[in-house]
Amino acid sequence: MSAGASSAVTGSSLTEPIAQSLAERGYAIVPEFLGPAAARALAEAARSRESRGEFRPAAIGAGAHRAVRPRIRGDQIHWLAEPLLPAEREALAAFEALRQRLNESCALGLVDLECHYAVYPPGAGYVRHLDRSPAGAERVVSVVLYLNDGWIEGDGGALVLHVEPVVEVLPRSGTLAVFLSERIEHEVRPAGRSRLSLAGWFRRRGRLYGGAPA
Ligand code: OGA
Ligand code: MN
Repeated sequence: MSAGASSAVTGSSLTEPIAQSLAERGYAIVPEFLGPAAARALAEAARSRESRGEFRPAAIGAGAHRAVRPRIRGDQIHWLAEPLLPAEREALAAFEALRQRLNESCALGLVDLECHYAVYPPGAGYVRHLDRSPAGAERVVSVVLYLNDGWIEGDGGALVLHVEPVVEVLPRSGTLAVFLSERIEHEVRPAGRSRLSLAGWFRRRGRLYGGAPA
């Protein structure tokens, strides 16, 4: 892909500081990863899927321990898959530009992205956790893109990054949180209104393709 194609999506002026902050601190917060029109179109796409009944309660754990535990994690999710809506294609193109930039700047060997919408109903949250579990060992970088217009501090629902000092991110439309999946513990505080996001994970190559063990 040419530099022009990627800058049309997010602007290389945006992706470079993300890579730098990720390398230095283990996270980056980007207030306008998507512009207002693109973020609103994506929110509408998500809400149309929600109204068609495409969301399911999110589960935690793996294998025999996999279960829905709303007091630990109270969101409803929809995994992005073909056929995609135009606003979803645009968001994925922005993430693809970021993936390439992170590989160039940080040599992370990221091969793909898995992502789902998440809707937290009022009162729901997600307790402190790490995104990389034995089941998700390929996850290297977590990204969360927020899709809520007119969010104010009193609405709650902050993403809390447990770093020193603690970082709180309001889930405002177009804001992106990026962090290292294995390193940064985080939680979602309950909100007073419905809270929508697109959460994703850039992954490295899994065991299936990894060749002979070292
Ligand atoms: C997650 C998560 C954070 C957020 O889905 O694993 O931590 O702010 N989401 O929605
Ligand atoms: Mn998480």
